[in-house]
Amino acid sequence: MNSGSFKKLEHALTWLKWWMTGLVALVLVGAFGGVDHLLEPKKESVPKVRDMAKTNSGDLFVADVENGIHIPSGMIAEGDFGVVLQNCLACHSSKLIIQNRMNAESWRKTIRWMQETQNLWDLGENEDKIVAYLGKHYAPIKTGRRKPLVVEEWYTIE
Ligand code: HEC
Repeated sequence: MNSGSFKKLEHALTWLKWWMTGLVALVLVGAFGGVDHLLEPKKESVPKVRDMAKTNSGDLFVADVENGIHIPSGMIAEGDFGVVLQNCLACHSSKLIIQNRMNAESWRKTIRWMQETQNLWDLGENEDKIVAYLGKHYAPIKTGRRKPLVVEEWYTIE
């Protein structure tokens, strides 16, 4: 190899070196999301519904309760209503719950159905609380009608 081609090779290697350095830098910036996160203050993380499901409390919602009703959802604000709000309103409106009155057993079946077909998560120990709340506050409506009379003997009015 004469000194001319050696110079060329050296030149090429220098370029290659810088080029690689640039590439590595780009990959690093990409991997760590640039430098923005170094400059911006950390944003408060918003709790996910799943995390919230662990916060076992209606306290989060008391500010919105008036006359025993959680105003935004229209649901009865008693007992474990907080757990119900956290777990049951992620996919649909509370109307779907309020207009469906059932006993505890049917509520559990509805929950099971949503778990099997609608991706409702495992409610763990909250399931019993939710079922108890729904079975109590969203039980089938008693119409208040008296039982039909049992007529033993018919008579004719003269
Ligand atoms: C992961 C999403 C999801 C969550 C969370 C969820 N549901 Fe549902 N639920 C659905 C879907 C989807 C439907 C069907 C909606 C429709 O038919 O428009 C449904 C339907 C219903 C119905 C109507 C059933 C029927 O027979 O028509 C009731 C009642 C109900 N949900 C109650 C609840 C309760 C109580 C909870 C809390 C334990 C809950 N849902 C949580 C997805 C969910």
